[in-house]
Amino acid sequence: MWAALLPVGRDTATGGYDRFVWTPSELECRAWFLDEARARSLDVESDGNGNLFAWWHPADGRRDDAVLTGSHLDSVPGGGAFDGPLGVVSAFAAIDLLRARGVEPARPLGVAAFAEEEGARFGVACLGSRLLAGAIDPARARALTDGAGRTFAEVAAENGVDPDGIGRDDALLSRVGCYVELHVEQGRALGPATPVGVASAIVPHGRWRLDFTGEGNHAGTTRLIDRRDPMLPFASTVLAARAAAERHDSVATVGKVRVVPGGVNAIPSAVAAWLDSRGPDERSVRATVADVLEHARAAARGHGVGVELTEESYTEVVDFNLALRDRVVRALGGVPVLPTGAGHDAGVLSAVLPTAMLFVRNPTGVSHAPAEHAETADCLAGVEALAAVLADLVRG
Ligand code: GLV
Ligand code: MN
Ligand code: MN
Ligand code: MN
Repeated sequence: MWAALLPVGRDTATGGYDRFVWTPSELECRAWFLDEARARSLDVESDGNGNLFAWWHPADGRRDDAVLTGSHLDSVPGGGAFDGPLGVVSAFAAIDLLRARGVEPARPLGVAAFAEEEGARFGVACLGSRLLAGAIDPARARALTDGAGRTFAEVAAENGVDPDGIGRDDALLSRVGCYVELHVEQGRALGPATPVGVASAIVPHGRWRLDFTGEGNHAGTTRLIDRRDPMLPFASTVLAARAAAERHDSVATVGKVRVVPGGVNAIPSAVAAWLDSRGPDERSVRATVADVLEHARAAARGHGVGVELTEESYTEVVDFNLALRDRVVRALGGVPVLPTGAGHDAGVLSAVLPTAMLFVRNPTGVSHAPAEHAETADCLAGVEALAAVLADLVRG
């Protein structure tokens, strides 16, 4: 099952994956999901927000208080093989284990694949789960654009999702009792003796866009003193973000930049840059972003350039449901409980459902990069752990 997904969207030169929502590689992952669901005679459902579900319904036809597991199939640009797909593959594998062990669920058990978790195409992370949970205004979601200027509404419609029907889905939510997501750990928090851990919290995090606007001109004929070059305040703002993060005990990353027009021999007319910042509490994140903006404004002024900051998303601290977490830890016979700096659909859904997360050890801590890795034995331990948790939960 895992092997079938490995070539999909993989750049053979770098080993990284590009699986952006509703692009050919991500559609191939969706087709794989449907095949795996049908091979297990699960009932397939796609909701009105582009998310996929595969249900194992109890023999008595019960439809409420479902236990949901799964993750996402999309990736960041040049991402690793495990972030997302590991949770979906493990969910199907856990169902196989439960069936082999003769478990008959008293509650429906579902596998989910949430759309656009990374926000790599339309900019807002966890877009599918945010829509389902009502955590983003549908009108705003419809108007989001990808790198080619195509709106979410247009692309959704082309892929069978009615853009006028997106948004909070109370009918679906009311059928789900809890969500448990298995995910590769994205740091090095699990030690040599522990292949699996349980999440306690997700730190506050967000994305901001900085638009520097100057004046395009000729790289050879424009005197330095005549330039209004947006690249200069942008460059110093990247360094200022690092310094602000150090001051406020946060992290700050500028991982995406768009230079207009992007010619070697042209002074840019505009630079758009995306800032990701996360920290132990909201104050530290807000203080970081405020310092970055203050620096950007002063630097831009000094170069005759304009600058604007737009908040694209902000997610408050998530403390996972304590009762569910305790039950998960008990089902596993005691495992480490740890917070994470990575965002997840489980975090978004925790506003509307009890949610929990299992982490599978990552020996190098690398993630969102081709070198992301988990040992096969640890992945199998993850499947065993997920199966144990699900077996406990579906009992009723
Ligand atoms: C998503 O994985 C994120 O944490 O940015
Ligand atoms: Mn990710
Ligand atoms: Mn992920
Ligand atoms: Mn994530």
